Amino acid sequence: MGRVVLFDEHSRDLGPNVAARINANASEVTHKYFPDGEQYVRVTTKLNGDDVLYVTRLYPNQDQGLIRVMLLVDAVKGLGASRIGLFIPYMPYARQDRRFLEGEPVSINVLLNTLKNLGVDYLYVVDLHKPQSLNGFNGFINLKPFKLYAEALRGLGNPVVVSPDLGSLWRAQELANELGVEYDYLEKHRDRYTGEVSFTLRSINVKGKDIVIIDDIISTGGTIIGAANVLRGMGASSITVVATHCIMIGEAEAKLSRAVDKVYCSNSIPGKYSVFDVAQLLPL
Ligand code: R5P
Repeated sequence: MGRVVLFDEHSRDLGPNVAARINANASEVTHKYFPDGEQYVRVTTKLNGDDVLYVTRLYPNQDQGLIRVMLLVDAVKGLGASRIGLFIPYMPYARQDRRFLEGEPVSINVLLNTLKNLGVDYLYVVDLHKPQSLNGFNGFINLKPFKLYAEALRGLGNPVVVSPDLGSLWRAQELANELGVEYDYLEKHRDRYTGEVSFTLRSINVKGKDIVIIDDIISTGGTIIGAANVLRGMGASSITVVATHCIMIGEAEAKLSRAVDKVYCSNSIPGKYSVFDVAQLLPL
């Protein structure tokens, strides 16, 4: 029984990196659309008895991506693989991790249960919005990127790590611990109906400091830009942003580059600021 990495057209860069990392062979699957929009996948690699890791990105077009995964898992099982694992660096729907308002679904549970019920044996995700969402899902693993980030930030003169909200405070703590520096957070409030974000200052002394703002996701950029403006107002001397999943909706990239000094993202969603390779987080 060997290990085989499969990837698709959305992970042509990542699939071979993963294969090199775990010392496996990699091949691309066939993936097409029928004229009516339905999807077609085919695996032409012989998989009898193999442990298969399918590497795929589910952003953009999350919903199509989920159907692609379902079809692929069935195809791999049909070929007699002994185990099927998924590497989905950015897990969509992870922010809806509870019923914020009555009548809402717990979307992340719906996705994880679907994967489990399909017979997925193991899953790797990177920097999941709330790692606790994986509790109870045996074999589903959240890969933490903070050591990798710390290596890139060691050159900063006088750093303090700041989370833009309470939800990412643990990330600030983990990164700060890696760097051996102080950390704190801003209190963020997002209006659930309008989506508007506002901040309350905490008692951190950031005057003259090189701030590292850390978050899991940059979507519109509103959270980071709001935090950066508050911290500049408090006398921070420079602002570096580290985020794992940089979705960058609309003008986010341009607005961000005006608001902060440096941005580092992972390649979970490839873009202008992708510097960290998530393949390097997989266990050997
Ligand atoms: C939310 O809690 C996440 O951790 C991010 O802070 C949020 O998704 C960022 O979104 P945006 O860039 O639109 O402010």
